[in-house]
Amino acid sequence: MATTTSQGTDRAGGRRRPPAHRRSVVWASAITALGGLLFGYDTGVVSGALLYLHTSFGPVSSFQKELVTSLLLVGAAVGAQFAGRVADRVGRRPVILATALLFVAGVLGAAFSPDLGVLVAMRFVIGLAVGSASMTVPLYIGELAPPHVRGALVSFNQLAITSGILTAFLVDYGLSSSGNWRLMFGLAAIPAGLLFVGTLFQPESPHWLISRGRDDQARQILERYREPDQIDQEMDEARHVAEHRERSVRSILAPNVRPLLVLGVALAVFQQVTGINTVIYYAPTLLHGAGLGSSASLLANVVNGAVNVGMTLVAIRLLDRVGRRPLLLTGTAGMVVGMVVVAVTFAVGGSTLHGATALVAIAGLLIYTGSFAVGLGPVFWLLIAEIYPQSVRGPAMSVATTANWLANFVVTLSFLTLLNAIDPAGTFFLFAALSLVALAFFARRVPETKDLSLDEIERQIGDRGSRRSAERLAADRPTG
Ligand code: BGC
Repeated sequence: MATTTSQGTDRAGGRRRPPAHRRSVVWASAITALGGLLFGYDTGVVSGALLYLHTSFGPVSSFQKELVTSLLLVGAAVGAQFAGRVADRVGRRPVILATALLFVAGVLGAAFSPDLGVLVAMRFVIGLAVGSASMTVPLYIGELAPPHVRGALVSFNQLAITSGILTAFLVDYGLSSSGNWRLMFGLAAIPAGLLFVGTLFQPESPHWLISRGRDDQARQILERYREPDQIDQEMDEARHVAEHRERSVRSILAPNVRPLLVLGVALAVFQQVTGINTVIYYAPTLLHGAGLGSSASLLANVVNGAVNVGMTLVAIRLLDRVGRRPLLLTGTAGMVVGMVVVAVTFAVGGSTLHGATALVAIAGLLIYTGSFAVGLGPVFWLLIAEIYPQSVRGPAMSVATTANWLANFVVTLSFLTLLNAIDPAGTFFLFAALSLVALAFFARRVPETKDLSLDEIERQIGDRGSRRSAERLAADRPTG
């Protein structure tokens, strides 16, 4: 019989395969990342569906369209807020299962909406599920993954988000001749069902179990996902962290957590106010408005979606090798360059672009999206799954995730108004300037977490936070 060594060499055939525990963890991460796919699909699909709602409901005003689009973002902010607390109380797995059911109910409800009111309500329900998935997926994968591949595995989530967006663009494009908006929404029931069934076969997070004193169960699970010689140390560290945790709700504001909370919220807000979703949601509108034909705009949009997926794959390969900081800093610098190119093109070419100027603007958008995808896109979700102590990880991730959805909501709602008020060139210069501010902030404040275990991160960053507050206290104390 063939045996597999820990390096993954199949002794009988000489083929190299990842060892069984590595395959299990990759498989579990891929199943859970279906939540990210749904996040991307449901946020992306609406741009196409909006065009056809009038075929069922008669004239639909711009305000009604905005409601259909943005109530998902409000629901997501609410869902993210609750999911963390519930996941800390009942465990990660039940929350993912409930989220999958909510997705199924929401997307089928949207697909069969008898009127616009029901559709708007269903978009809110889908939003609750999107928000919950956006925080529980990185949380769960982050706790299940071994440290040296955690960056790649947590970033499966971002890969799934970007693939979901691209799939939505392609589905919208494919169904545009029939205008079947119900199917556009309803197709998401397939990955939602798969997420539910797949999660039934996944274990609870071992770190959550240890935090609840259920060590035997945690050990059994770790035996499936770790090399045998890694288990004892990981259990000891996790137990140590669990024993020293503060159980009070206020521990989220403890001196060692507060700076991390600020960091997570700042990353969340910067991820949105630097403009990614104005590009993801509005690129076709923008390019069309700037004089490009509708099919050329849609094509440019699909290419942009593909670059987003492709560069996320590059990030997955690099995050655990070169580290989080270099990718975040290089990526954010690239976003500044991309936005400046787009802004200058509009400034020089006026608001209507032709031939070469249109191509340069599209190139600027691609540089921007690719740079986001290799840095701030995945690194935000990864860092918020890593930097918080186990005792407050769920609620603290909820705060950062909610901030992300609220910032997304504000930017999405105000973008078109901004375009009219300060014209495209001004708007994109503004995003370039905000990306520059983000870059300066990241350079000063973002720690490197590559290769550290969650418990090491907790000890190092937590200690630094406590030390800083102690120093501040000492400095504030009156002398003499
Ligand atoms: C962001 C989303 C965005 C997506 C684009 C994610 O990291 O949170 O708001 O739509 O990236 O790829």
